Amino acid sequence: MTKRIAMALILAGTAAFAHGGVQNPDVKTRMMGMGDLARQMKLIGGMAKGEAAFDAEAVNTALARMSEAASEIPSLFETPAEDPQSEALPVIWEEFAGFTTRASELEALTAELAGSVTSEAELRPVMQQLGKACRACHATFRE
Ligand code: HEC
Repeated sequence: MTKRIAMALILAGTAAFAHGGVQNPDVKTRMMGMGDLARQMKLIGGMAKGEAAFDAEAVNTALARMSEAASEIPSLFETPAEDPQSEALPVIWEEFAGFTTRASELEALTAELAGSVTSEAELRPVMQQLGKACRACHATFRE
């Protein structure tokens, strides 16, 4: 797989998402948390693809924000809230320790990366690491 295709797949995974019609406020809130992660990643991804000018400060701020958002995942999912629109799998609450481990891994990765990015060349590997951390959880815990 070429790097370009890998990047396209990562970005496709973070593209459009909709929570129109979600009734359960807990589900809505956790979807908004995920949406925030996706927005930060899109910002970094846009620069990685050359669609936006490289801005180290903006990248590092986005990574710090992702770390904060990741730290909130366990509390956002603590209540086994359901909604027809939700893609959360019941296994989250059967294996909550495993679920929170995936959140901690994303939190640690983004905390480590935040402040470290100084060049445009680092963005692709950063995006790949981020994509892997999102997928590590989605693969098991999301429809
Ligand atoms: C610890 C597990 C976990 C991690 C890590 C994680 N997610 Fe999620 N994500 C979920 C679950 C579970 C759902 C489904 C929530 C629902 O529909 O109730 C979800 C849903 C989403 C959605 C859809 C939200 C919506 O409005 O329907 C997006 C977008 C998303 N995640 C992006 C990301 C990105 C980007 C990352 C990495 C930077 C990430 N997620 C990391 C568990 C995780």
